[in-house]
Parts: sequence; structure tokens; C-alpha cells
Amino acid sequence: MADEVAITRLREETVTDLLAVAVEDADPEDVMPPVAGPPGWTEARRSAFLGHHRARLSGLDGPHQELGYLVLDDGEPVGAARLARQPHGRFEAGVWLGRSARGRGIGSALMPLLLAEAAAVGGDVVAATTAGNVAAIALLRRHGARLAEDGAGAVHAELPRRVGKGDPDGEGQAARVAGSCRPPPAGRSSPLSP
Ligand SMILES: CC(C)(COP(=O)(O)OP(=O)(O)OC[C@H]1O[C@@H](n2cnc3c(N)ncnc32)[C@H](O)[C@@H]1OP(=O)(O)O)[C@@H](O)C(=O)NCCC(=O)NCCS
Repeated sequence: MADEVAITRLREETVTDLLAVAVEDADPEDVMPPVAGPPGWTEARRSAFLGHHRARLSGLDGPHQELGYLVLDDGEPVGAARLARQPHGRFEAGVWLGRSARGRGIGSALMPLLLAEAAAVGGDVVAATTAGNVAAIALLRRHGARLAEDGAGAVHAELPRRVGKGDPDGEGQAARVAGSCRPPPAGRSSPLSP
């Protein structure tokens, strides 16, 4: 089981920590939009990964209107979560964890934190996945999602609105949300930084 799971807003200082998790412990197709070229973590994909997250650091006031989070397990970065503003007052939730962090209850532990963040900005939460993503479907079901499949394998989920005390514009809100989180280690070395 996961120990202390928390989410904290992704910042410039932690974007390279997230890249290190992705490169060490995930496939590009699980954690970023497609980039043309040979498979694996090419320089082009590392650069696109950093660019993608840096372009979203300004949150809901920025051009992508997206809140990005680092997921921490016992204070160690293990993945990312996001809430992207959609039309009609909705937010699309997304989560990915490094392979070694999956299947240990971390996704289940972080979902209420993410839903509380969405509640703080007053949005209903939706998610999209595929019928073959058994873990994502189980995770969404566990948190009360209504699921609809389109017949071509795409699954749309609507999650129940929660009352929460997240603070998406604040710093260090993970401790308040999770109650027991330590901040990410300062200056975590990132041998895989581009
Ligand atoms: C999807 C993901 C976020 C789930 O987080 P997780 O920490 O692995 O999930 P948990 O361990 O909390 O388990 C959640 C549920 O999924 C089930 N589950 C987890 N891994 C599973 C697997 N490999 N096969 C079947 N069921 C699985 C658990 O049994 C649990 O179900 P339950 O609540 O009915 O007991 C994570 O696996 C992941 O990052 N996957 C790769 C990226 C991805 O697919 N993101 C989602 C895109 S929509």
C-alpha cells in the first residue's frame, strides 16, 4: 500500500524531477502527447515533455488553462496529475504514475486530493480513457464515476462533485490537502535532465 500520498502544484524547480521519473520509469506514450521519431526517450521527446509542462505552469490564468501537479509518495515524485479546464465549467482529470508506483494504491489515494482541487475551483470533473485500461477504469469506478463507452473503445467518465478545500493557486497546498505530506526533496539530482 502507498504510504503518504500527496499532490503539489508543479513548478519550474520540479519540472526536471518529473522528467526524471518519466524517463526512468515510464514509456513516452503513457505520459505525453505523441512526438514523431524513433521510439523511446529521444532528445526531442525530453524537450517536448519539458515544454509541455512549462507551458502549463501558469495554471488557469495561462494559455492552456490547466493545473498541473506532481504526485508524491512519501515525499518522492512518482508521477503527475492534471486538471484541464473544459467548456461548460468542467475539468478533465488526468493521472500517470511511473511503472514502479502503479498498482500500489497511489492512484486511489490521490483521486480524492485531485477531486478536492477541482471542487476548490468549482468544476465538475470528467476523464477520458480507453476500455482496455483496466487500472484506470477500476480507479474511476472506485471513485464513483459514471462511465460511457463510445463503441470504438473510448471511455468517457463523469465524476461526482466533491466538497473540498484545495487551493489551486496556493503554494504547498499538498500538506493542507493531504494532511501528512512532505515537500519534494530540494534539488533532487536528475541525471536524465536534457
Ligand atoms: C491508471 C493509474 C493512474 C492507476 O493508479 P494505480 O495507483 O496504479 O491504481 P491503484 O493501485 O490505486 O488501483 C486502483 C484500482 O485499479 C486496480 N488495478 C490497478 N492496477 C491494475 C492492473 N494492472 N490490472 C487490473 N486492475 C488494476 C486496483 O485493483 C484498484 O481497483 P479496486 O479499487 O477495485 O481495488 C496508473 O496505473 C497509471 O499511471 N497507469 C499508466 C498511465 C495511465 O494509464 N493513466 C490513465 C490514463 S486515462
